[in-house]
Amino acid sequence: MSLADGPDDVVTARAPAKVNVHLAVGPLRSDGFHELQTVFLAVSLFDTVTARPGDGLSLTLAGEGAGGEVPVDRGNLVWRAAELLAEHAGVRPDAALAVEKSIPAAAGLAGGSADAAAALLALDALWGTRAGREDLTALAARLGSDVPFSLHGGVALGTGRGEMLSPVLARRPWHWVLGVAAEGLSTPSVYAELDRQRAAAPDQGIALGVPDAVVAALQGGPASALAAALRNDLQAAALSLRPALRRALRAASDAGAQAALVSGSGPTVAALASDGDHAIRLAATLAGAGVFRTVRVAHGPVPGARLVA
Ligand code: C5P
Repeated sequence: MSLADGPDDVVTARAPAKVNVHLAVGPLRSDGFHELQTVFLAVSLFDTVTARPGDGLSLTLAGEGAGGEVPVDRGNLVWRAAELLAEHAGVRPDAALAVEKSIPAAAGLAGGSADAAAALLALDALWGTRAGREDLTALAARLGSDVPFSLHGGVALGTGRGEMLSPVLARRPWHWVLGVAAEGLSTPSVYAELDRQRAAAPDQGIALGVPDAVVAALQGGPASALAAALRNDLQAAALSLRPALRRALRAASDAGAQAALVSGSGPTVAALASDGDHAIRLAATLAGAGVFRTVRVAHGPVPGARLVA
């Protein structure tokens, strides 16, 4: 029996945002992607996708990025997820999809990837396609480098272009304050800026390395150990495109964060707190600092995309 058996069925799935606690960027590959060594941490900001029976595809959006930044047509990863799953399963792409966004868009938090992962799960259930975890993960990788992690959740080492995952153990929750600047950044433009910076300093070399320190810290170190091990090779490129981010990072340090770094391709600043209470105090200070449009508290690891009862 599928989870959706009648014309009135509604299936809802949700998926989390992510922070890269380690993002080492290797050389540009011939396929236009960069080789990565990254450690993803899924954090407690969730987007929700609801799928209902429909005639053809339709998509509505509410919450963060609705009515502007985020497209509601084929330009949205949710739409492409639906087409891809339908093609894979040999069914008609008939569904009315509604996305409720809490994850800020174009922020380096994998909001679009979360939506795509949640859509795959919701439509798999609505259409009764029973694609299975392995097939869904393969489809996810075709949609985007971060989408497999949005399905997976928790903590994982990502290699290849970020789509090849192996789980990493985290023995306790980590508490963050996520400060989102006013204007989003496009991921390709940040990678392109990194390439430009590297071309201008060719003798610097590119060391991909293995994220041993961050993995050890996640497995049970104090927050100060994780703080010392955080790394993001895209940060300098994001700062070059958005110089105001420097002030935002400084505001997080001044407010007492264990450490602060740009999340993924930015422009979100992820500030590591000592514990949950510290995160709340830190968020209050940063909300008053006037450098962020939105300030959110989040913890992780949390599970990946899940159906919601
Ligand atoms: O995989 P995704 O569609 O999210 O990637 C968006 C863009 O980010 C790519 O087109 C590429 O410019 C850049 N990217 C990259 N190397 C990666 C992942 C993304 O250069 N490993």
